Amino acid sequence: MRIKAVVFDAYGTLYDVQSVAAVTEQAFPGHGDMITQLWRIKQLEYSWLRSLMGRYEDFATVTRDSLAYTLRVLGLASDPATFDRIIDKYLHLELYSDASSALTAMKGCKLAILSNGSPAMLNALVQNSGLDSVLDATISVDAAKIFKPSPQAYALIEPALGVSPADVLFVSSNPWDVSGAKAFGLKVAWIERITPEAMAATCAASDLVPPLTMFKALRTQMDQLGFAPDYRIAALSELPGIVASK
Ligand code: LAC
Repeated sequence: MRIKAVVFDAYGTLYDVQSVAAVTEQAFPGHGDMITQLWRIKQLEYSWLRSLMGRYEDFATVTRDSLAYTLRVLGLASDPATFDRIIDKYLHLELYSDASSALTAMKGCKLAILSNGSPAMLNALVQNSGLDSVLDATISVDAAKIFKPSPQAYALIEPALGVSPADVLFVSSNPWDVSGAKAFGLKVAWIERITPEAMAATCAASDLVPPLTMFKALRTQMDQLGFAPDYRIAALSELPGIVASK
């Protein structure tokens, strides 16, 4: 298999969704962790529910609705300015430290993002992080009006890049996204940032499970859906070696 294109998930893979914690804790001291984790869990849940219901709204709406849900159930009242300041952080998420160097090292391939993010969210995020200088395309599922892991989302890659799915390596840290890409027929590299051993040790460390630990248990371990990644790596920095060996 020759890899002609490397396509990345955005949130959680190239960009650290945990970096919203800086603004959630500042806005609601003592509640930052719970807001950050509940928000991301609900955000994904709403993307799946809207896809199943056939009631698509873009990821900007889903992100706002899931934050509104989170603040409401936590009994936290926010003024519009505070709410918008938290939402705005999604346009300024921190890049993982090895993202830029890993992408630059793979410039021999077509490089793209395929993300649930709306076009406006992704374009701002990519420009704010400087990745626009290295990416050939930023593909939003908005064109298909359905979220990943629908096959219709992954099917956007070929027309956008002019590369057959057989020649694409898809990269994600999100196990549900890894399963969806495999089910569609892509070769997949899973960025496994938390090993099962580290996960088990974290859970055993305390009888009180903080929200971040619950999030990690829900969203960082490979799902039981019958799909396994082709490559299981700990960091983006391992990708250039895989691509060069193909
Ligand atoms: C993405 C996140 C939702 O699609 O995984 O970028």
